[in-house]
Amino acid sequence: APDIPVGAVVQDLKDLQQISDDNGGNRAHGQPGHKASVDYVKAKLDAAGFETSLQEFTHGGATGYNLIADWPGGDPNQVLMAGAHIDSVSDGSGISDNGSGSAGVLEVALAVAEADLKPTKHLRFAWWGAEEVGLAGSRHYVDGLAAGQAETIDGYLNADMIASPNPGYFVYDSDPALEKVFTDWFSAKSIPTEASTETNGRSDHASFQNAGIPVGGLFTGAGATKTQEQADKWGGTAGESFDPCYHASCDDLTNISEEALDRNADALAHAVWELSG
Ligand code: PHE
Ligand code: CA
Ligand code: ZN
Ligand code: ZN
Ligand code: ZN
Repeated sequence: APDIPVGAVVQDLKDLQQISDDNGGNRAHGQPGHKASVDYVKAKLDAAGFETSLQEFTHGGATGYNLIADWPGGDPNQVLMAGAHIDSVSDGSGISDNGSGSAGVLEVALAVAEADLKPTKHLRFAWWGAEEVGLAGSRHYVDGLAAGQAETIDGYLNADMIASPNPGYFVYDSDPALEKVFTDWFSAKSIPTEASTETNGRSDHASFQNAGIPVGGLFTGAGATKTQEQADKWGGTAGESFDPCYHASCDDLTNISEEALDRNADALAHAVWELSG
């Protein structure tokens, strides 16, 4: 898999910050910053040759959007998906949660186009609306699949908070094969990982898991406190949250570890290349 240039991911975060600034300081469900964020990602994917579609849904009396991007080709009965929620909470810009995952998945998708990848499996990328109000966008997507379609999805990889400023390296321990493709990448770089427990049922992968679809994903920690043992192996500050600005107004462009962003974007690219054959 290619090395994802972290500068491109950071530029996406700058652009998402600008979108938030221009739209009242958030990118939340039902707010203009959410739709503007979706339009930003869609334009890049369209220019790169993806087949994109917007799935509009209503939740809590407000309109939300899922963005789906299919890479043409591959076996339609063996689909590999990767996705991230693109809404923020209403209290801030949501650059760590979840600009980081949104930008990481975007740059991996653009790398697929750049490489003109011809995978055995069909690749589909997704950016979910309304995660912060109960995983609503991803649930609308899974609920809306035509009969038999869930069975064609071989795996779903989730990226929610992959650049926390005081990062840990957590890998979802749900499906063993999807876990291993990530832990292999980290062990090759001698970066220790832990199985992610804080994530269980708490992001969009749960919508897929509930439909019997194998899931995996990456996470650098949210409101929980980094222990001394974790600081010894990962660096950073023991006794502080992985993300001290989790769901707060200070979750802006300064609330990011570029090193974690770089590593996780590269790990995600590795997984997409390996798993799509
Ligand atoms: N889904 C939660 C949020 O977006 C927190 C979380 C992030 C949980 C990542 C699991 C994985 O705020
Ligand atoms: Ca990189
Ligand atoms: Zn709903
Ligand atoms: Zn959140
Ligand atoms: Zn999140």
